[in-house]
Amino acid sequence: MLSFDARGRLASVDPNVFRMLGVSPEDVLKRSTDQSIHDFLKDRVTDPNAYISSYEPLRQNPYAVLEDVFAVVGREQRAVHRHSAPLFDADGDFVGRVEVYSDITKRRALEKAAVKAYEQLRTTQEQLVQSEKLRAVGEIASGVAHDFNNTLGIVLGNIQMLLRSTVDEAARARLKAAERAALDAVDTIRRIQDFTRMAPRDEPKPFDLNSIVSEAVDMMKPAWQDAPHARGAEIKLDLDLTEPMLALGNTSEMREVLINIILNAVQAIPNSGSIAVSTGCSTAHAWARIADTGIGMTEDVRKRVFDPFFTTRGMEGSGLGMSVVYGIVRRHNGSISVESEPGKGTIVTVFLPVAEGKVVEQEIDRPSESDVLARASILVVDDEAMFAEVLVEMLAECGHAAAVAHSGIEAIEMFKKGNFDLVLTDLGMPQMSGLQVAEAVKKVKPETPVALLTGWGAGLDRGDMDESVVDLVLPKPVSLENLSAAVAAALAKSAPREM
Ligand SMILES: Nc1ncnc2c1ncn2[C@@H]1O[C@H](COP(=O)(O)OP(=O)(O)OP(=O)(O)O)[C@@H](O)[C@H]1O
Ligand SMILES: [Mg+2]
Repeated sequence: MLSFDARGRLASVDPNVFRMLGVSPEDVLKRSTDQSIHDFLKDRVTDPNAYISSYEPLRQNPYAVLEDVFAVVGREQRAVHRHSAPLFDADGDFVGRVEVYSDITKRRALEKAAVKAYEQLRTTQEQLVQSEKLRAVGEIASGVAHDFNNTLGIVLGNIQMLLRSTVDEAARARLKAAERAALDAVDTIRRIQDFTRMAPRDEPKPFDLNSIVSEAVDMMKPAWQDAPHARGAEIKLDLDLTEPMLALGNTSEMREVLINIILNAVQAIPNSGSIAVSTGCSTAHAWARIADTGIGMTEDVRKRVFDPFFTTRGMEGSGLGMSVVYGIVRRHNGSISVESEPGKGTIVTVFLPVAEGKVVEQEIDRPSESDVLARASILVVDDEAMFAEVLVEMLAECGHAAAVAHSGIEAIEMFKKGNFDLVLTDLGMPQMSGLQVAEAVKKVKPETPVALLTGWGAGLDRGDMDESVVDLVLPKPVSLENLSAAVAAALAKSAPREM
């Protein structure tokens, strides 16, 4: 506390004030007026201009009550609160001023910590709400997706069979259009299953984030370069990669993440603009950032960007891109931030855990056709007669002979009697599931490969599955090409055969 008389001369001092302001008693006491003391103090605060202007009202009105907070420079910065008020005697005459100082350093720190804790709580809550929302939508969507995969399998199989036997050009064009539409639907379902999946597609491996980023940028050239050129515009893409760095994850999934984000950036630029793609690394995280100068998002849109089916692009968008991105990044134990301002642009940053060690080349394990029997005898097990029928015809197209069992029990009977090179069974069937069929088959003849067909997509958790019972998982719907490759792969996996 300091007090001054009516003429502004120092009248009394509480010695605590010296320690609080980090000054020696002489420094204050040798200055006898409030003006000179304030001049001296202004050089000891972090923001002298703010300090001076808080005293400005006193020049207009000597009786003003002032309240301010300033930080004192010193070994440790202190926050000081000051209350400055006029004093009057019993007759109401002005007799001076009093200035009460309090050290609020601790209070300030507590306030800051409270605000930080609140922010963290809010972020955690937002994340929780987000994953709850995804879980709820995911549960409904994955059931729908499962049924659609079965139906689309029949549609696609029939179309592809017809395409093989149709020569009429007009009819082929229609079939092609139908095939394209069915494949689009398959893709939408794959994306739904992608964001509802909990575990990564494969075991995460160390990979060079820079090369995946460059690859994604290259792959998207038709979108960010060719398409704008075609409409007489230009999107400038700046690539700024740091030193090689290893992140932990699945390369094909990360490519998908980047492609979705880059595509959104392109779609947010109606005419010309630029996209800056950069990477960086801290001790715990590798990050990739895509910043565009597009239309940006309002806060409402930004909050819903990861919601499945949320789109502002009408019929052109499915609203699944960022949900897939979110699902993949979460499964990688990473995080993602979206900053955006309407009219200015958007910055999306993906953080991934860093990996130690060397880059592991991801090998595609696909045996060549010549490695396997040209004509195999296959037992198809599916309770849905129509699907089984299409499958048999598709297998025939690939040069294989197939027989159908409509239930697990029937399958075991047929398997015991026949001589099959491969069993292709549906997973979800009443009474006896595909897994039980696989177990029974392996008991009779362990060397016969079993491929499991599932409408639950590639996301089916292989962890629950006994590797010795199931040799291959094949997501529905299957195209001719995939079916032929899968049969080849399953046969190649089986015990050595005479060629
Ligand atoms: N870079 C961006 N700039 C502006 N808005 C964006 C950006 N990225 C996403 N958005 C907004 O978020 C919405 C959801 O994005 P998301 O990628 O999930 O779906 P979509 O792009 O609409 O459709 P899809 O990706 O399935 O084709 C978009 O419709 C758009 O409003
Ligand atoms: Mg999108």
